[in-house]
Amino acid sequence: MTPVTEWVNITRDVSIIARESGEVWFHTPSTTEQDNDPFAAPMTGAGAEGSTVRLLDGAINLGFAAIEKGLADPTPTIPAYILALVGAYHTSVDTPRNLRRAAKRFEDLGRPEVAAYLEERAREETGHDRLALKDLKALGVPGERLVANLMPEGIAPLCKQFDDLCVQDYPIGSIGYSYCLERIAALKTESDIEKVQAICPDGVDAFRFLRSHSALGSEVSHVEETIKFVASLPASDRISVVRATYEAALVMAQGYNHELLKSDAKIIDEIERAIGEPLTCHGASHHLHDEKAGRQPAVPAE
Ligand SMILES: [Fe+2]
Ligand SMILES: [Fe+2]
Repeated sequence: MTPVTEWVNITRDVSIIARESGEVWFHTPSTTEQDNDPFAAPMTGAGAEGSTVRLLDGAINLGFAAIEKGLADPTPTIPAYILALVGAYHTSVDTPRNLRRAAKRFEDLGRPEVAAYLEERAREETGHDRLALKDLKALGVPGERLVANLMPEGIAPLCKQFDDLCVQDYPIGSIGYSYCLERIAALKTESDIEKVQAICPDGVDAFRFLRSHSALGSEVSHVEETIKFVASLPASDRISVVRATYEAALVMAQGYNHELLKSDAKIIDEIERAIGEPLTCHGASHHLHDEKAGRQPAVPAE
């Protein structure tokens, strides 16, 4: 049997090509020898997990590569962690409803297997917004009031992108968006979590969302399920999913960088305006106005 090769044209200049055996490369579509370029026409064959995952991850890499200097990687601070939890809340709160709306659409389109996959994902994601709220509460922050009054600028476009994908007539792109967020979250390791734990007061458990959206939580299995499912889809669907993954990576990279580059002073100002009172945190108020401290990488939003 010939090993599977899959490809997707992402932009005018770049296609991703992946083989089942694990090779993956970026290809510049030929403009002069169109007829001789075997990747000029969209792929039509069946997928395979080994090649599909490389298309999906290639799309994420391409999206993040668009950020010229790479993603900011500042030192964690409590205000930045609080802001990241606010982002985590917003990117989770509508996820089950959005996924169910897309599932309903596929049901109507006579694609029960896609509907079933999306329904299952909606079940898995239910309650994740509550994890972020519990974490905020554990830090002594009025979470409900905070999230009601603060939508981080870098997170809003990501939420809008998912909302838009899920109401499309053919909402297959919602799978690419979810893959991007979950794949990035699954890269978080135990040591990433320990770095955040180290800046939080002793005895505070404000890491429910972070833990569950990391390599230690359910994200790894969510990612595996998605790869398997996407590989089973027809070629035209796989192309749409990979392109949506790329679009999500672009918006996510820009949005996260926007949040990560904020100073603690700016973050505290945003939080205090939203809650209408000075920000204090259980046992750690002395940290909160230390402008010299760096900032914390975003909680993987989803
Ligand atoms: Fe989640
Ligand atoms: Fe998930």
